Amino acid sequence: MLNRWQSVIKYNALLALVLVVVSGLAAQREVTCTPAELARQQAALADALAAAAERIKADPYAALAAWFETGAAAQDAALNCGYIPPDVATRAVGDDVPRILNLLDEVSADPLNGQLLYNSDTLACYGCHVAQAGEAAPALDGTYTRVEETRLLDPALVEYSITQYLIESIVHPMEYVVPNYSAVMPTDYGQRLSLQDLADLLAYLESQDGASPE
Ligand code: HEC
Repeated sequence: MLNRWQSVIKYNALLALVLVVVSGLAAQREVTCTPAELARQQAALADALAAAAERIKADPYAALAAWFETGAAAQDAALNCGYIPPDVATRAVGDDVPRILNLLDEVSADPLNGQLLYNSDTLACYGCHVAQAGEAAPALDGTYTRVEETRLLDPALVEYSITQYLIESIVHPMEYVVPNYSAVMPTDYGQRLSLQDLADLLAYLESQDGASPE
């Protein structure tokens, strides 16, 4: 009897292990840089570290700064090749629109928090974008509708998705300036917003699907 239970327990433990391994593999992301490209980047980083080491005697502080920058460059290289860090939701989202589009699945967006952010004094979106059409910036009302029915018809935006347009409008506002408005939107939101913040803002803007006043 005991033997039978022992084997059941062993079997279950084995099953659990297999499940952990399989789900671990499933969680691994696709690497988009080839081994050759990774090797090339690694060599460049190694050169940078070697150069930093040479400066240690002459200028230790500059050497540390170079170390720090090389570390950041190594992180960027991994991110650009498809690595998704565990704290992806809270890091600065940056301004790489295709990468941001890929990452959006990693968080679940909250439009109510998006509304709070939109109206916060820190981001001050509402300072320019009022509900109804203002002179300074396009209206908040009907943003989703307007993007779908007006903006994306512009030949300059062919093959854009609505989300892609909205992300670009926020992290790269100079890329496409809405006709009849001036390019006054701050250009540093990619550094100021986390992925979670941006996803929440997008969810809020995408909920503006009534008639557009413009
Ligand atoms: C200083 C004023 C200002 C601030 C602050 C500002 N915007 Fe804008 N925004 C504009 C202007 C002007 C345009 C139209 C010109 C352009 O495309 O840059 C615009 C365009 C947009 C568009 C495209 C709208 C459309 O109808 O096509 C979106 C989306 C947007 N902003 C979102 C935001 C969000 C989200 C924030 C806050 C995180 C924000 N903006 C902060 C001035 C501002």
